[in-house]
Amino acid sequence: MTVLDHPLIADRVTRLRDKDCSCEQFRLLLHNIAYLMVPQVTAQLDTIPTPVQTPLEDTEGRRLARPLIIVPVLRAGLSLAEGFLELIPEAIVAHIGLRRNHETLEPEVYYPNAPVDFSDSDTIVLDPMLATGGSAIETVRLLKEQGASRLRFACVIAAPEGGEAFRSAHPDVPVYTAALDRCLNEQGYICPGLGDAGDRSFGTI
Ligand code: PRP
Ligand code: URA
Repeated sequence: MTVLDHPLIADRVTRLRDKDCSCEQFRLLLHNIAYLMVPQVTAQLDTIPTPVQTPLEDTEGRRLARPLIIVPVLRAGLSLAEGFLELIPEAIVAHIGLRRNHETLEPEVYYPNAPVDFSDSDTIVLDPMLATGGSAIETVRLLKEQGASRLRFACVIAAPEGGEAFRSAHPDVPVYTAALDRCLNEQGYICPGLGDAGDRSFGTI
């Protein structure tokens, strides 16, 4: 797991954690964090040499080797998608909907539909929270079933338990997080964490 160590990201994650942060601010901060994460999350993408004719001469540049697909996990992942799209407007967006069952903490898929061709693409899964890891593991399993192979997972806060579970399930998928927290509590919430990211993003508390 790569923890993205940047003063601006640290500043915004700290403000995000604050229980008095408004819904409006929360969304804005997540957007901002996503934007700041893009360069590091995409740093290892393959490029291919590409000829280009400038107004002065022919030269060679580099273009991304494959189309990029971002997969926001509904609901909370939506708050990260716009930040990624600002820097990568050509990306395809494939949504997946899961919610954690509050008793079992198991993910329940309610929108598995990502009708795109993943086979020759780079795919970045977005979800602010990696807690038990169940939702991320299931999302990546579904995407692999649909042919995705070059995957990355980007989150804002990860618990060590979720990071470990994800690594065991999908050792081939790198994880990028803005913060690695202490532990999960008995209800499966990340501590110190920020509470329920979906509810705080959409004002549904
Ligand atoms: C949150 C979060 C992740 C999941 C993480 O979503 O956005 O998807 O919990 O928990 P896990 O690692 O233990 O699976 P939630 O199920 O609350 O749905 P929401 O985004 O609709 O609020
Ligand atoms: N999902 C959240 O939104 N927050 C947590 O702390 C754990 C799972």
